[in-house]
Amino acid sequence: MKVVILKDAAAVARYGADIFINHINQKRDSVLGLATGSTPVALYKELIAAYETGRVSFKNVSSFNLDEYLGLPSTHPQSYRYFMKQQLFDHVDIDKTQTHVPAGDAEDPFAACEAYEKNIKQKGGIDIQLLGIGRNGHIGFNEPSSSLKSRTRVKTLTRATIDDNARFFGPDEYQPHLSITMGIGTILESKKVVLLATGENKAEAIKATVEGPLTAACPASALQLHEQVVLVIDEAAASHL
Ligand code: GLP
Repeated sequence: MKVVILKDAAAVARYGADIFINHINQKRDSVLGLATGSTPVALYKELIAAYETGRVSFKNVSSFNLDEYLGLPSTHPQSYRYFMKQQLFDHVDIDKTQTHVPAGDAEDPFAACEAYEKNIKQKGGIDIQLLGIGRNGHIGFNEPSSSLKSRTRVKTLTRATIDDNARFFGPDEYQPHLSITMGIGTILESKKVVLLATGENKAEAIKATVEGPLTAACPASALQLHEQVVLVIDEAAASHL
C-alpha cells in the first residue's frame, strides 16, 4: 500500500487526477471505476479542466460507478447517476452509453446486481478504481461487517452513514436506507485502486485502513490485500498515522 500525504485537499485532487489522466493517456479505452461523495468532486473538476485544455480525452473510456441508492430514480437530484452527470459526464466527451451506475430503480434489484457484475467482466474488468472512504471505514456502501469477498449486492446503510449523508437531503426529503454497491471482492479485482481522503474526520478510518488489522470492521482495510493501491490523503486525514 502506497500512502501519499499532501498538504491539502486541492493537492490531493490534483495528484489523484494526474494518476487518472496518465492512465487514460496510456490506455485510451480504460475502464474506470468511479466514486461519489464530496471528496472526489475536486478531482472531477481537475479532469474537466484537463479535458478542456486537451490534456485528456474520455472518448473511448467506459466507467462503472461503485454504488447507488436503492429507491431513487436516476433523475433524482440525490441519485448517484445524477451526481455523476452533474460533476463529470456532462462536461467531458465520454460516451454516455458507456457509463454505468447501478440501477437504483430496478424492478428486480438482485438481478440488477448480477447483471452489473457480468457487465464489468464483459468489459475485461476495471482498470483503475477511484474510492473515497466513510468515517466508519466503508468503501462504496460496504459497511462494517461486509464480507471481504462480497460481490455487487443490496446493502443496508448503517445509521452512521445515513446521518453522514443526511446533509445532502432536504429535511422532508425521502432518504433511502438501502443501496446497491459493488462488493469488496469486486473492488479488489480492479487492477489498480486510488483512494482519496481529506480532513480530520477521516483520520481514524485512514489509521484503521493503513495500520489496523485486516478486518471486516473496517472494510477499507481489505485494500491491504491488493498489490496496486495508492492512498492519496491530506495532512489532516494522515494526522492519526
Ligand atoms: C458515501 C459513498 C462513498 C463515499 C462516502 C464518503 O457513503 N457511498 O463512496 O466514499 O460517502 O463521502 P464523502 O467523500 O462525502 O466524505
